[in-house]
Amino acid sequence: MAQLWGGRFTKETDSLAYRFNASIGFDKRLLRQDIEGSIAHAVMLAKQGILSIEEKDRIVKGLAEIREDVESGKLQITEEYEDIHSFVEVNLTARIGEAGKKLHTGRSRNDQVALDMRLYVRTQILETDALLKAFLETLLSLMEEHLDTYMPGFTHLQKAQPTTLAHHLGAYFEMFKRDRLRMRDIFKRMNFSPLGSGALAGTTYPLDRDYTASLMGFEGPALNSMDAVSDRDYLIEFLAALSTVMMHLSRFAEEVIIWNSNEYGFVEIDDTYSTGSSIMPQKKNPDIAELVRGKTGRVYGALVGILTTMKGLPLAYNKDMQEDKEGTFDAIDTVKDCLTLFGAMVRTMKFRRDVMARSAMKGFTNATDAADYLVGRGVPFRDAHGIIGQMVLYCIAHNKGIEELTLSELKSLSSVFEEDLYEAVSLKSCVEKRLTIGAPGMAAMREVIERNRKYLSEDWRVFENSERIQIAERGGENE
Ligand code: ARG
Repeated sequence: MAQLWGGRFTKETDSLAYRFNASIGFDKRLLRQDIEGSIAHAVMLAKQGILSIEEKDRIVKGLAEIREDVESGKLQITEEYEDIHSFVEVNLTARIGEAGKKLHTGRSRNDQVALDMRLYVRTQILETDALLKAFLETLLSLMEEHLDTYMPGFTHLQKAQPTTLAHHLGAYFEMFKRDRLRMRDIFKRMNFSPLGSGALAGTTYPLDRDYTASLMGFEGPALNSMDAVSDRDYLIEFLAALSTVMMHLSRFAEEVIIWNSNEYGFVEIDDTYSTGSSIMPQKKNPDIAELVRGKTGRVYGALVGILTTMKGLPLAYNKDMQEDKEGTFDAIDTVKDCLTLFGAMVRTMKFRRDVMARSAMKGFTNATDAADYLVGRGVPFRDAHGIIGQMVLYCIAHNKGIEELTLSELKSLSSVFEEDLYEAVSLKSCVEKRLTIGAPGMAAMREVIERNRKYLSEDWRVFENSERIQIAERGGENE
């Protein structure tokens, strides 16, 4: 067992207690961040005269080599270390001797782990944002392709009014666009460095916290050392945002499952993204969509988990906080996989235009337009509503659609009806008359697509610090 704190102990830790306490099994994921933070710390210690330049150089080189050796598989991160911080420090000292023991000057694992997790999540926010953007590109291309793919729009899962696939997909586009905005907001709020906070009350060394913060691309140092070591708000915010992404994906997945059902037959999922049954040879199941819907639960679970862990923790660091990692890592992996796979599935899905259009005709989706027709000819809306209600009853009794009624049948319901009713209630005109921005009419949709194209092309320098992030990730070479 390689522990950093044996000095005041006279007995070995119980082996189960040791295993229970250890976090190496999951925090090994933070290797790069731990090394990046350690490099920034060492560079700063040398600038402040706390380490010699020579010591700093040996530390930076040793740390970079540890990273390379782990990444090339030459060095294994094993369970004999308590956590990733011990692993790095013990290996550094084994490699470079005395200087390695000086790295932890003016630092605690409390600010160290707070920093590592922040660095990790910061990158994950950027990567999630990139996946969201790729998914938006997919959606927008499909929208352009399906401006006149008619389909029923639903309320209460009952056919309501006709719309287009472009319009329907456009609803999801807006949801995932908001998800991206959330990523940016969270990044802005969390981009402050806890390094230099020590265990809880800062240190007695003349550390330059502004300097380490800027080396790593942070906006600045977190301004209260107790808060800095015990704040996990950004994880809660990130997990809430990831939960919202999953909620959106899950709604979409549910629709794909419905659309893919035998009864609907609106879509056919590509063979690459569906699976068969071990007993029923005819089956082709939407498993990917179902799993996306199902995995939403575990991402919500991670959010509820961390909220519950944090509740009631006294200031400052408590070991409970070690529980912030596994759920967060799992949620991040899950969301990234779901976004990637679901995007690919939607991109390769076949939309059966004819089936969708036929379905849009059925179910009196043009009833509102028939009422609007009467209103356009001077009938008060409430009266028109009543007339069309009777018309629907009549149609049901005679197994006809509105557009299938003869002119004399129409006249018997209201003398206002003329030949031009047929055109007014046709699928195409029901959609094409809806031209306010945000509606499915083609001209309105084109305008929306153009605005959203522009939004996607604006390569907003999402985070002003992105260059500094890269400098820090190269390991303090900018010194
Ligand atoms: N493994 C710990 C965590 O993830 C690191 C911090 C340990 N600090 C301490 N004082 N025990 O939270």
